[in-house]
Amino acid sequence: MTDILVIHGPNLNMLGVREPGIYGSKSLNDINNELSEKAEVRGVSITSFQSNTEGELVTRIQEAFQESVKFIIINPAAYTHTSVAMRDALLSVQIPFIEVHLSNVHQRESFRHHSFFSDKALAVICGMGSDGYLYALDAACKRITQSQAK
Ligand code: DQA
Repeated sequence: MTDILVIHGPNLNMLGVREPGIYGSKSLNDINNELSEKAEVRGVSITSFQSNTEGELVTRIQEAFQESVKFIIINPAAYTHTSVAMRDALLSVQIPFIEVHLSNVHQRESFRHHSFFSDKALAVICGMGSDGYLYALDAACKRITQSQAK
């Protein structure tokens, strides 16, 4: 059973190597391990998934519905700015999600200013580096705990 699914889009498997001045020095494994440790303390189950392929990301979002995932944390990476298919997948499954970006996309090239996800996200966290994922996890845990208390 997975309460929270973390989805990482294309090129995020290159974190640590990829433009460290923008994306930091942590690897994707480092980030996923931090998330797992924090989730364990909070008593929630978490699964992380990365793909460089749009269709695989769409399929993983659809599978989250079958698995009754309660919350999605997603960094769609470059697909943020292009993917109607991933937007539609998130709308299909109706699972609340937080959009995370390591960099502040609004300080960067204008093509990064538009997101196909932000207007449907519960929240958007950008520019906080890998801490952004931890903030999103805190928010997701709070929501899950609140909904269980009802
Ligand atoms: C990113 C920002 C995107 O514009 C870029 O294509 C990425 C990473 C970020 O985390 O800052 O791959 O989503």
